[in-house]
Amino acid sequence: MRFLKDVTLAGARVLLRVDYNVPLKDGQITDDNRIVQSLPTVRHILDAGASLILCSHLGRPKGTPDPAASLAPVAQRLSELLGRPVELLPEVVGPQVEERVARLQPGEIVMLENLRFHPGETKNDPQLSRQLAALATVYVNDAFGASHRAHASVVGVTEYLDVCCGGLLLEKEWRYLGEALKDPKRPFVAVIGGAKVSTKLGILHNLLEKVDALIVVGAMANTFRKAQGFAVGTSLVEDELLDAAAGIMVTAKEKGVRFYLPVDYILGTDPKAPTPLGVCTYQDVPEGAMILDTGPASHTLFAEAVRDAGTVVWNGPLGAFENPVFAQGTSNFCRVLAGLSALTVVGGGDTNVIIQQLGLSEKFSFISTGGGAFLEFLEGKTLPAFAALEAKAG
Ligand code: 3PG
Repeated sequence: MRFLKDVTLAGARVLLRVDYNVPLKDGQITDDNRIVQSLPTVRHILDAGASLILCSHLGRPKGTPDPAASLAPVAQRLSELLGRPVELLPEVVGPQVEERVARLQPGEIVMLENLRFHPGETKNDPQLSRQLAALATVYVNDAFGASHRAHASVVGVTEYLDVCCGGLLLEKEWRYLGEALKDPKRPFVAVIGGAKVSTKLGILHNLLEKVDALIVVGAMANTFRKAQGFAVGTSLVEDELLDAAAGIMVTAKEKGVRFYLPVDYILGTDPKAPTPLGVCTYQDVPEGAMILDTGPASHTLFAEAVRDAGTVVWNGPLGAFENPVFAQGTSNFCRVLAGLSALTVVGGGDTNVIIQQLGLSEKFSFISTGGGAFLEFLEGKTLPAFAALEAKAG
């Protein structure tokens, strides 16, 4: 794959695909991390003497303009961060865009409107791909968060421009995730949490091929405990996946992978309960109680399991962390990881939120900007963005 250092940027007109799919509340950006993470690439391109056409999706508008999903707040935030104007164009492609782009001078930045205002984006439509490509002389993809989407601005566009490469953020993600999964420093421990086994089955299977230890936490772990024959009260369980969970435990054993589940729980009546019901071991969950967090014995067990790790990959909370009453297992474990000298790689939405809330971002080796993309990477899937750039590099 080619990256920024491999292409000539002076005098170029660069189409830069970023992932500015940031959370908004009442039109205000509540977390600008994805914009901040793109700044090195944006600055690199401008400093090299190129002009810049930025493009991104925001939310999931259905192929028609939706003012609530306009990139206007994003263009404004980027402009503040860069200290220079970022002009938002009124459409994705079309005469107004073409006319403005034709006058673009080195160092100038324009941003196309939300790519998903155009029906061709998510369909990887060749005509839209061609129109996007025609705007620029160089295509740079820095949108790791969208790299699992075979969309026009991610995949199709690369067929119509000779010079295509990954940006600095894409390169960083590619190297860190690649290093963690392909050639990990051992022991390699993966910690997978969250609510549902069904969404993480592919990840668990793929990781069993690579890790020395696998820790399954969150409500997912209930399905595993039930598969072992233990009562789980009124806790979230996927009964249709009991066999799959049992199969994973058998595979772990066959492969010599150390497999951990929580050994004690914090119980409650429901995830929003104002107080917990108490603590119990995994053998003693009372009828009518819900497992909502991991307890102190699990904490000790997991801390021990990662203590000598060379690499730790973590995705997914240990409990119902949105409620502070059930957030301790997750935050305590987060602090343990933050204190390790291992390569610590995390990603996938919720996990990043927790780390940020605790102010521990600097203590992790790498926090992926990908949600779904990070998960698909863990699943071992080929990400369409990488495939397209690799094909381009021959
Ligand atoms: C994300 O937030 O995970 C990416 O921006 C992809 O968004 P999507 O799931 O709407 O394609």
